[in-house]
Amino acid sequence: MLMKPFLLLEALVLRVVSGHLIIMSPEPYSNKTLNNSPLASNGSDFPCKLRDDAFAAPVKETVYEVCVSNTMRFKGSATHGGGSCQLSLTEDLTPSKKSIWKVIKSYEGGCPANVEGGLSGDANSDNDIQLDFAIPENIASGKYTLAWTWFNRIGDREMYMNCAPITVDNPSLSSYNQSIQSQAQDFPLMFIANINGCMTPLNLDIRFPQPGRIVERNGLARNILPEGQSVCTGTPEFGDSVAMNPIIPDIEKENLGKATTYSLPASPVSIQPSPCSCRASHRNTSPQ
Ligand SMILES: *[C@@H]1O[C@H](CO)[C@@H](O)[C@H](O)[C@H]1NC(C)=O
Ligand SMILES: *[C@@H]1O[C@H](CO)[C@@H](O)[C@H](O)[C@H]1NC(C)=O
Ligand SMILES: *[C@@H]1O[C@H](CO)[C@@H](O)[C@H](O)[C@H]1NC(C)=O
Repeated sequence: MLMKPFLLLEALVLRVVSGHLIIMSPEPYSNKTLNNSPLASNGSDFPCKLRDDAFAAPVKETVYEVCVSNTMRFKGSATHGGGSCQLSLTEDLTPSKKSIWKVIKSYEGGCPANVEGGLSGDANSDNDIQLDFAIPENIASGKYTLAWTWFNRIGDREMYMNCAPITVDNPSLSSYNQSIQSQAQDFPLMFIANINGCMTPLNLDIRFPQPGRIVERNGLARNILPEGQSVCTGTPEFGDSVAMNPIIPDIEKENLGKATTYSLPASPVSIQPSPCSCRASHRNTSPQ
């Protein structure tokens, strides 16, 4: 009777040690020294896996036009049963613990891959893991740091964070005139946990306290954090108190609007102009 859970745990650990994920596109800062491990559990390398020379420029900086569908790509295999991710921006080009990160899209469940355990191969495998996103129309032209953060569903309680410098091209909003920092409603603060004393629940795809207006859901309905349940337990030692409010609001009734189907682009490299609906609500109906 005691044997079974032990074996299950072992299987989980075996998967976990095969390596995690690393961002390939957009090309991250300092890709030569960026490894695939999560942030240190004590928060010391937050944000962006701080290290010596953490913000070396890529060979070619990625340019994104607003309201165009883009693809973020990863290599690796240990997808930890999915989880939940956020894409956030800061105007800070050498981010520090003081940087303000604003969420442009949340993925609740099935992120970055909607598979039960992990994928095949090792840390260098290209499993075609990708997320689609668009830079919202009210992000002004300029340089930003784009962060991908991930709270894995199974395995150790971790927070992953990779950062890439990007340039936003917005023909109708040409300067920082309208700072992203001031657009609190459209772009809430990035969620932080597992590195600050507040731990997310195991085996559940978390829902973010403040997911923002654009939310995609790809996980199984049975894996999503139930309404009203704490998104993390413990007292956060740093981060914004609102972003880390451990009680998730009833987001279905908030300004996200009706559930809409949001399909991923068929081709990993397709960059198609989309109707400028970035500010509209996108929420997948959860698969059964
Ligand atoms: C870093 O990015 C460059 C340019 O895309 C690529 O040629 C190089 O192989 C990458 N290095 C690593 C360690 O991934
Ligand atoms: C935090 O953790 C890292 C790596 O695990 C370690 O090197 C560092 O000394 C720790 N920092 C503090 C302040 O405990
Ligand atoms: C940009 O700033 C100028 C001067 O402060 C102001 O007149 C203008 O309305 C601003 N534009 C936007 C889009 O906020």
